[in-house]
Amino acid sequence: MRIKQMTDRYAVIGHPVSHSKSPLIHALFAEQTGQHISYEAIEAPLDGFVATIERLRRDGYRGCNVTVPFKFEAFDCATELSERARAAQAVNTLSFEGDKISGDNTDGAGLVRDIEQNLNVELQDKRVLLMGAGGASYGVVLPLLTAGVTMNIANRTASKAVELAMKFTGTRIHGGGYEELVGQQFDVVINATSAGLSDSEVPLPDGIFAPGALAYDMMYGRETPFMAFARSQGARVADGLGMLVEQAAEAFYIWRGVRPETAPVIARLRTPQ
Ligand code: ATR
Repeated sequence: MRIKQMTDRYAVIGHPVSHSKSPLIHALFAEQTGQHISYEAIEAPLDGFVATIERLRRDGYRGCNVTVPFKFEAFDCATELSERARAAQAVNTLSFEGDKISGDNTDGAGLVRDIEQNLNVELQDKRVLLMGAGGASYGVVLPLLTAGVTMNIANRTASKAVELAMKFTGTRIHGGGYEELVGQQFDVVINATSAGLSDSEVPLPDGIFAPGALAYDMMYGRETPFMAFARSQGARVADGLGMLVEQAAEAFYIWRGVRPETAPVIARLRTPQ
């Protein structure tokens, strides 16, 4: 008698979602690890996130990733939250088991792993400047602090950076405006603003990068003004493609208990098709 392998179903939910690289990334992980899963992209109507989750659960899906603009609704619909999801106030990974909906956020772990494992920069005791105080920044602060950094959050609207930093009192963290940065130097500067989308001026002073510093842009797919500025200042530059693959690997690990190798997947995504 042949034993039929069950295929566990997963998806990424967003709006829009057709551009998502997650189905390809998870297909490569599944192939590499021999896990029998399917993973598809599902576009939920803007007012239909919860209904979509209910449908997936009814249909026996085991979990899903959640992307823009639903990460906050995913946070609200989880019945259990990890500590890092709580800190992020947003969820990008849901797991379904019976009545339970577990919410996690793997973005920050993905960023830390990309910087430490792929780019070989040890974060312990590093001076980190995090640019921006929106959703992307909320997602990464706790994992960066846990990695042992000293952090400065700078934001165009300084009060939002102060508010974000205040959530972590007692730790090595400060929030403020860009004007406070003059004369300071950082080992790692992370762009978590949406400013890369337009060619607006980079709000950083000359000399912000310490010798050998890493400039990390969470965006990928094109050279941003932040990257160009960092290059002109002599910094080492990285984009966010590694973070994208690492956050997916962390979700895969949560669901499957197996950690896929990310280097071949990152290399494949960097190869023009
Ligand atoms: P996301 O979820 O992608 O972080 P968001 O919550 O809208 O999106 O946050 C966007 C971030 O980019 C904010 O920190 C925003 O600064 P403000 O809080 O002052 O709006 C920042 N940002 C957007 N455009 C910017 C620009 N041209 N210069 C500097 N910061 C910018």
